[in-house]
Amino acid sequence: MDVQKITVQDIRSLKGRRKITCLTAYDYPFAVLVDKAGIDIVLVGDSLANVVLGLESTTQVGMTEMLYHSKAVSRAVKRALIVGDMPFEAYQVNPKDGLANARRFIDEAGCDCVKVEWFDHCIDVVRALVGENIGVMGHIGLTPQTADKLGGFKVQGKDAQAAQRLIEQALELEKAGCFSLVLECVPDRISGLITARLKIPTIGIGAGPECDGQVLVLHDALGLFDRYIPKFVKKFIDLSPLILGGLEDFKNQVQTGVFPDKPHSFSISEDEWSKLKNI
Ligand code: KIV
Repeated sequence: MDVQKITVQDIRSLKGRRKITCLTAYDYPFAVLVDKAGIDIVLVGDSLANVVLGLESTTQVGMTEMLYHSKAVSRAVKRALIVGDMPFEAYQVNPKDGLANARRFIDEAGCDCVKVEWFDHCIDVVRALVGENIGVMGHIGLTPQTADKLGGFKVQGKDAQAAQRLIEQALELEKAGCFSLVLECVPDRISGLITARLKIPTIGIGAGPECDGQVLVLHDALGLFDRYIPKFVKKFIDLSPLILGGLEDFKNQVQTGVFPDKPHSFSISEDEWSKLKNI
């Protein structure tokens, strides 16, 4: 049966109707599962750097890594909207490159649209992309690509002035044509305010329950990443101990000769076996 693909317009129209779900994925097997679970949006996040590649900062991944992983995800996903996360080098080093790099996410990697984090020239980049019919998800609050400028990985918009700046950024991104907006590490009442002011849906991560939807990094939600665990992370299943148990079983069964057993081995017929012996 043909599956109906979720579009940017579908996501926009969900505002006020039901909550939107979004998870990251970076490879084929997990993207298959996220899609099968009926999640609305699969984000190929640049959090790839931290949770898959073992790097310190999201600025350490570039177009090569992001396209490679986006391709694997788009081979797997049949229904969810696929968002390619533009890495720092794709649009912040030279904003003029933004459009060409966004096109690569769509044309080469099979993504449906892209995400950009707030930075000084982000409105110009968003306008350029939207002008070429590329759907853009914005991202404000804690923006990991420029976290050093925000005083580190901290909750943003905690005083009235900073909260006002976030509201202005949100309105500017909506006006520039974003179809949705990620709010990361924002006090719940500020997210509520922004969500009420915008016509486009907000997708929160550490931004409280009033957002129009929620996103989590997949490896955090599945208990596959323990190097640091932000306060907003909920482990919906703790896979690491389960996987570790399986790996230890494999080791023990090989070492004791329990595996491989008959059902996991191939045989040759007695006839052929005796022929070989007589050669
Ligand atoms: O890269 C990522 O995973 C993200 C989410 C945290 C929204 O940008």
